[in-house]
Amino acid sequence: MILHNSMATSLFLMSLLMLFLDSNPCTALSWRNNSLVDDIGIPCPVSPHPFTMCKSEAEAYGYPCEDHKVTTEDGYILSLKRIPHGHDTDNSTGDQKTRQPILLFHGLFVDGVSWLLGTPEQSLGFILADGGFDVWLANTRGTNTSRKHTSLSPKDPAFWDWSWDQIAEYDLPAVLEFVYHHTGRQKVHYIGHSLGTLIILAAFSEHKLLHLVRSAVLLCPIAYLSRTRSDLTRLAAQMFLAEAVYRIGIHEFNPVGKVAAQLLAKVCGDPKIDCHDVFSALAGPDCCLNKSTTCAFMLHAPQPTSMRNLIHLSQMVRSEGVRRYDYGNAKENMKHYKQPHPPLYNLSSIPTHVPMLLTHGGQDFLGDVPDTRHLLKTLVRNHDSDNIEVQYLPDYAHADFVIAYNAPRLVYEPMVDFFQRH
Ligand SMILES: *[C@@H]1O[C@H](CO)[C@@H](O)[C@H](O)[C@H]1NC(C)=O
Ligand SMILES: *[C@@H]1O[C@H](CO)[C@@H](O)[C@H](O)[C@H]1NC(C)=O
Ligand SMILES: *[C@@H]1O[C@H](CO)[C@@H](O)[C@H](O)[C@H]1NC(C)=O
Ligand SMILES: *[C@@H]1O[C@H](CO)[C@@H](O)[C@H](O)[C@H]1NC(C)=O
Ligand SMILES: *[C@@H]1O[C@H](CO)[C@@H](O)[C@H](O)[C@H]1NC(C)=O
Repeated sequence: MILHNSMATSLFLMSLLMLFLDSNPCTALSWRNNSLVDDIGIPCPVSPHPFTMCKSEAEAYGYPCEDHKVTTEDGYILSLKRIPHGHDTDNSTGDQKTRQPILLFHGLFVDGVSWLLGTPEQSLGFILADGGFDVWLANTRGTNTSRKHTSLSPKDPAFWDWSWDQIAEYDLPAVLEFVYHHTGRQKVHYIGHSLGTLIILAAFSEHKLLHLVRSAVLLCPIAYLSRTRSDLTRLAAQMFLAEAVYRIGIHEFNPVGKVAAQLLAKVCGDPKIDCHDVFSALAGPDCCLNKSTTCAFMLHAPQPTSMRNLIHLSQMVRSEGVRRYDYGNAKENMKHYKQPHPPLYNLSSIPTHVPMLLTHGGQDFLGDVPDTRHLLKTLVRNHDSDNIEVQYLPDYAHADFVIAYNAPRLVYEPMVDFFQRH
């Protein structure tokens, strides 16, 4: 029984890790020494500098950076970073009032630094600041810089008692409203990646936040997950592995994530196992990662999340439709929702006038093509054709959209054009 449990847990851990790596780290990085070494032999720094985005990333490149704190209605104190204008030596900074605010919302297992990992020419956060925007970087509850609460400590299980429902319901409006008010009531352009797309689709489907958002760009839009091409993710969901981990009393993912990283190092260290195959099967091959950026990415991940969030995502892999978290029985669901089944987020009811750009990749096993097609069918059919655009990149997988060396040309330029039109 115990063996069973730990085997199941290991498998689960591996698949989770894949979700966020979603790259081919073994082609980019060697794990053979239990450390990250890129394939031209330059080791990643042994211990990353304590991560505070403003100091270590933005200011290091000469960008201004502000650190704001935003308290959600349910008490989480979130860190919200701002790069108000471009490089300090850049004279085109202009009048702050003319700079449109943009909120960047990261995905699962990472945080706001994922937008700043490469050089200023490569990273979306810097590119937008240099391009004349007022850039804001969200960090969801639980991640390294957002681990405070008005009454709870991360050591309390209650601190982790949430899924992405609550990110959509509390974190997202809190940061959007903060940006809106702080910039003199300017509507905000939104950019989400992965889970950062699911939460805004969920909010829009309930006709929320529309008065705050000027347009939305969805990178690797995630909503439906039941057709995922990631076999191991599906297996983990079908084995109820997240649920098993939760039941043994682990409510925060992070301790699990550390074990997973070690496990992965072992697996990739075994010469009999071809890591490339393992990774491709799990998450799909990224085409265009710069090794040094990948290295930085791996050092900043996995960021903590709650086990309940992972349970919610497994529920979505197991079933059609996008629903709230299922408490597992009619009685509990009645208590929370006043109905025996969790309520549906009806994506067909997203208002048809919201300007949206959806960008997805052919190699992405998570924001996979069949599920994305289904989402597009739901969204595009009724949407004002002037207000929806779809971009497809056949070679791109999940992480490419955030850290690929050619993303500035392929993804970010069209995105800025889109903002200029809306
Ligand atoms: C492992 O690390 C040691 C020292 O850090 C180095 O000498 C050795 O070549 C490495 N081995 C491999 C397989 O990378
Ligand atoms: C920027 O502005 C300063 C003073 O306003 C001026 O001396 C400098 O030449 C300008 N730099 C560029 C690159 O235009
Ligand atoms: C990758 O990044 C490094 C430094 O960050 C840079 O020197 C190199 O030119 C980049 N490679 C590509 C292909 O962009
Ligand atoms: C998060 O913070 C902890 C402790 O402050 C640190 O040990 C860890 O490396 C950090 N993780 C990341 C991914 O930045
Ligand atoms: C979802 O919304 C659409 C459009 O408003 C509506 O026609 C449909 O009946 C709704 N579906 C459900 C299950 O409520």
